Amino acid sequence: MSDPILDVTALRSGYGRVPVLHDITFSIAERENIGLIGPNGHGKTTLFRTLSGLVPAWSGSVRFLGEDITRKSPASIVERGLIHAPQGNKLFPDFTVLENLWLGAFVKGPRAQRKRTIEQVFSIFPRLAERRGQRCSTLSGGERQMVTIGCGLMGLPKMLILDEPTLGLSPKLKAELRDAIETIVASGVQTVIVEQDPEFLQTLTTRLLLVSEGVVRAEIADSGGLEHQRIVEMYFGHA
Ligand SMILES: Nc1ncnc2c1ncn2[C@@H]1O[C@H](COP(=O)(O)OP(=O)(O)OP(=O)(O)O)[C@@H](O)[C@H]1O
Ligand SMILES: [Mg+2]
Repeated sequence: MSDPILDVTALRSGYGRVPVLHDITFSIAERENIGLIGPNGHGKTTLFRTLSGLVPAWSGSVRFLGEDITRKSPASIVERGLIHAPQGNKLFPDFTVLENLWLGAFVKGPRAQRKRTIEQVFSIFPRLAERRGQRCSTLSGGERQMVTIGCGLMGLPKMLILDEPTLGLSPKLKAELRDAIETIVASGVQTVIVEQDPEFLQTLTTRLLLVSEGVVRAEIADSGGLEHQRIVEMYFGHA
């Protein structure tokens, strides 16, 4: 088997002196797309913030494309192609859609080809093309999610981490985003997606990880064929 793309070993981190990630170990091989589920407040977002260099690791290691990135800066991690589209509304509210997207291409390589990338983002999310001059504070929740994912794409990710992309969206918009994510995956960008709804992940991901209390509790090798009951049991810790 070829080397993993992302390899996380015994990772620990937290805030101040309070630990959140106790011992996270998993790896992602080439072409895998991973779904991540787990109860609220158990460290999913903290895991991504630690992988991105925004929260310092206390111990353990993160390797991406064969290189140790555990202590690299957030900008240099983005530059290597590990990009995290954050949970919640983290856009610049007074900036337009276009301005926010430009900011997603702040590092050197992506900056050079941002005109081309922006057209790709608009082809995935045609609504954003129509609203390119609109301030982000006036967008709907679904449109903001599209800009958030678009900003991630602007950095030319090799691996794109999506932290609850459909939170609070209607079933119709959720389906629209699912199709957009499918297009992104088909274009060769590997994804890691956090979702509260395991069914949403079934067709998008190849494997599911369950994170609770800051550790990876379980893995389901084939998320397409998963048994819903089993997931629910694991979710609530009775498996
Ligand atoms: N900036 C922060 N400072 C201090 N504690 C924090 C901070 N961010 C998160 N925490 C705490 O870390 C723990 C894990 O939070 P985290 O956001 O990683 O969980 P999560 O699994 O992503 O939850 P959710 O499903 O609600 O998004 C929680 O107890 C939270 O209160
Ligand atoms: Mg979270």
